[in-house]
Amino acid sequence: MHIKSIISEFKVKLIEYFIAFPFITFVCFSSFIFNQFILSNVKVIKMSWRNFVKISENVYWVGAKDWNRRLFDALIPLPKGTSYNAYLVLGEKKKALVDTVNPGFENELEDKVKQIIDPSDLDYVVMNHAEPDHAGAVPHVMAWNSKAKLVTTRMGAKMAQVYYKVPSERIEIVGDQSTIDLGGKTFRFIEAPMLHWPETMFTYLQEDKILFPCDFFGSHLAKELYDDEVEDLLVHAQRYFGEIMMPFRLNAEKGLDKIKDLEIKMIAPSHGPIHRNLQRILEAYRKWVKGETKQKATIVYATMWGSTEKMIRPIMETLASEGVEVVLYNLSMADLGDLAKDLVDSRAIILGAPTVLAGVHPLALYATYLVKVLRPPTKFGAILSSYGWGGVAIKHVQEILGQSKLEVVGTLEINGPPSEEDIKQIVEIGKNLAKKIKETP
Ligand code: FEO
Repeated sequence: MHIKSIISEFKVKLIEYFIAFPFITFVCFSSFIFNQFILSNVKVIKMSWRNFVKISENVYWVGAKDWNRRLFDALIPLPKGTSYNAYLVLGEKKKALVDTVNPGFENELEDKVKQIIDPSDLDYVVMNHAEPDHAGAVPHVMAWNSKAKLVTTRMGAKMAQVYYKVPSERIEIVGDQSTIDLGGKTFRFIEAPMLHWPETMFTYLQEDKILFPCDFFGSHLAKELYDDEVEDLLVHAQRYFGEIMMPFRLNAEKGLDKIKDLEIKMIAPSHGPIHRNLQRILEAYRKWVKGETKQKATIVYATMWGSTEKMIRPIMETLASEGVEVVLYNLSMADLGDLAKDLVDSRAIILGAPTVLAGVHPLALYATYLVKVLRPPTKFGAILSSYGWGGVAIKHVQEILGQSKLEVVGTLEINGPPSEEDIKQIVEIGKNLAKKIKETP
C-alpha cells in the first residue's frame, strides 16, 4: 500500500513535470528574447538626472543653464545668468544637433543627447553661429563619431577651421535658402549676417515650423524654458537687444524681413526662453529694429564731489515736469545692461561728464564710448560738466561722439558747483530738450 502510494505520487509528479517543463522553458526563453530585444534597441538609453525636454515631435531641447554666469564678453553684466540652448532634431533617416553649448558644459550636453540617441549616430551639427557660447562644444561633439558633418555658412566654415580645427572634409557649407532633408524633417537655412557675427544664419525646421535663430530673439535668462513662463520677458529681451543687436539694427531689420513670410509656430533661440507667444516678441522687435523711440530721456553721469550731480538734478526735474519719461544712472553704481536697455527706446541722452586729470572722468568716458558703439536710435543730447581748475570734458565727449547723428541741444561746462544762474541755464536746456523730444516722432 505504501509502495503503491509512492508510485502513484511519482506518476503525478512526472505528469506535472512534463506539463510544467515546456511552460517554464517557454517563459524563460521568451524573457531572454524580450530582454535581448530591449537591450539591442535601447542600449544607448541611459538613466540620468539631466533634464532634456521634448519641444515638438522628435525635437528636443538638450541645452544647458548657466545660473552663475555674471559677465559676458568681459563686458555685459548677466544678473540672471544665461542659457545655451541646443536642440536635437531626429528625422527618419538623419539626426542633427542645432548649435552646441559654452565650453564647460560639453558633458551636460552629451549626457542629455545620450538619453535620446546614441551620439555615434549623429549625422549633422548645425552651427548657426561660431561664437564659443554656441560652438565651443563643437570639437567635443564632432569627436562623438567620424561621420557627422558640421553645417554652416561659407564664413562659418572658415571660423570653424580657425577656432575649432574642424577639417574641411567634415564641413558642409550651406547657402541662403538651401535645405537638408533628414527624412520627414527638413532644414531650410537663412543667411542672417551680423546677427550677431558675419557668419550667422537661422535654421528653419519646415515641418514643425520652428525657427532656430541662435542669438536673435534671445535673452540672457537662466530660468524657465518658455516665454509664457516669464512675466517680464520683454524687459530681459530689450536689455539683450540693447547689448547685442542694437549696433546691428539695419541687419536686424533685414533679418526680420527675411522671415516675414515664414509660417512660424515657435522661435527657439540659443539664449533664454523659447517663444510660443510670437506676437509679443515680434511686435517688440519690429519697434526696436526700426529705432522707434518714446518720449523718454536717459541720464547718465559721474560725479566726484557732487557738482555734476547738482547740474543733473535740475535737468531731470525739468524733463519730468514737462512730461518726459526719465531714467537716471549714476555711473559709479549703474548696471550697463540696464543702460543699454533704456537706450533702445530713449529719444534723448544727457551726459554728466566732469573733468578729472585733464580729461573726461573715466566712467563718463566709458559711457560715452558705449553710446557711440551701441548706436542707439537716440536723437537728441545734452552734456553737462563741472571742473576744478580747467574744463576739457565737453570737448572730449563731443570728439568721441564725432559723426554720430545725435543732435546736441545744449551744453554747459562750469567751475565747481552750479550757481543760481547756471541752474537757470540748465532748466532752459531741459525745456528745449523736452520740446524737441515731444515734437519729434
Ligand atoms: Fe550668444 Fe553671439 O553669441
